[in-house]
Amino acid sequence: MSEIGKAAEPLQLLQDVERAAGLLRAGELVAFPTETVYGLGADARNPAAVAKIFAAKGRPADHPLIVHIPDATHLDRWARDISEAARALAEKFWPGPLTLILKRQPDVLDAITGGQDTVGLRVPNHPLALELLSAFGSGIAAPSANRFGRISPTTAQHVRDDLGEGGNSGVAMILDGGPCAVGIESTIVDMSGPRTTILRPGMLSAMDIGLFLGRMPAESAGANAVKASGTLEAHYAPRTPLLVMPNDSLPIVLRDALVKQERVAVLATFPAPFAHPLIEWHVAPADPAGFAHDLYANLRLLDSLGCVRIFVEKPVGQSWQAIYDRLKRAAAGSSVKSAHPANQKEETRQ
Ligand code: TXA
Ligand code: MG
Repeated sequence: MSEIGKAAEPLQLLQDVERAAGLLRAGELVAFPTETVYGLGADARNPAAVAKIFAAKGRPADHPLIVHIPDATHLDRWARDISEAARALAEKFWPGPLTLILKRQPDVLDAITGGQDTVGLRVPNHPLALELLSAFGSGIAAPSANRFGRISPTTAQHVRDDLGEGGNSGVAMILDGGPCAVGIESTIVDMSGPRTTILRPGMLSAMDIGLFLGRMPAESAGANAVKASGTLEAHYAPRTPLLVMPNDSLPIVLRDALVKQERVAVLATFPAPFAHPLIEWHVAPADPAGFAHDLYANLRLLDSLGCVRIFVEKPVGQSWQAIYDRLKRAAAGSSVKSAHPANQKEETRQ
């Protein structure tokens, strides 16, 4: 992770981690980097500290939080009735972008579980997060460090822009670990019952999990799913209306926008077929890992340009599933009403 070195000198980082652990012990909120997105952390055993997360994010109180733990040996402090398959997944993919939903221990706070009988656990794969967890020595409850419903942060500056730092922001400190390597949130796998179900796709794919377990997990529990803000339809949304569409529809909608003299933004994996002052064309990496790494920073950038709409090329293929999931939610959250026939199929599906 060479990007981390740029944020601060190693000694300074260790001092920052110690300070951050002290703030967590004192019941304060600390934002910290993970390999997926930045988290807004609080001592998961302290109800007053956990309440501050909901206040700072503007998040509904019944939405459960992921507890980040230093390593898999902490599993039994938070969860019970853990299957061999769940332990094997933890051994294989932790630290990493995998959240396991398991039956909770009775002493886990209701504010963490949203009053459910389960708890979400994960060991993040980021050196600063792991340092912080080992210095703190217990579970850190942390949702993504953004205002509720907005785009998740993948840099410390994104957190600062969204929530602020110090003063009366509620965020005592932001640990800067550079840009997040993965860029979209962890894969959430429910292993609390007899079935293994993916509640939220991530860059650790259903296929990776299925190949390891020797059976494919079920995907998303649909309308009966437990409440999970990452599974709400409208989420990860920029303020500018966003539309996802097949690349061959792009020229049509762009012509439309130009006729109306609208300034629009495009996120695509290929260069603009023509240049025009009203079109802000942004080329994204053509591979899923690269696209995911840059996705939220790209959406924030395009959202800041004051365009009427953002058009995003619809990704195609299994390895783009988690990215498409986030794009659909961003589109749903931006409540687009477009008359163009090319968009209608997409919109009705959201
Ligand atoms: O990559 C990630 O998972 C990031 C980093 C910071 O670890 N965290 C994250 O947290 O995305 P958040 O709160 O933005 O999304 C976590 C999702 C939410 O949709 C939450 O409802 C769900 O996990 N969740 C947590 N505990 C759960 C539980 N017991 N049952 C079902 N869903 C749960
Ligand atoms: Mg979130």
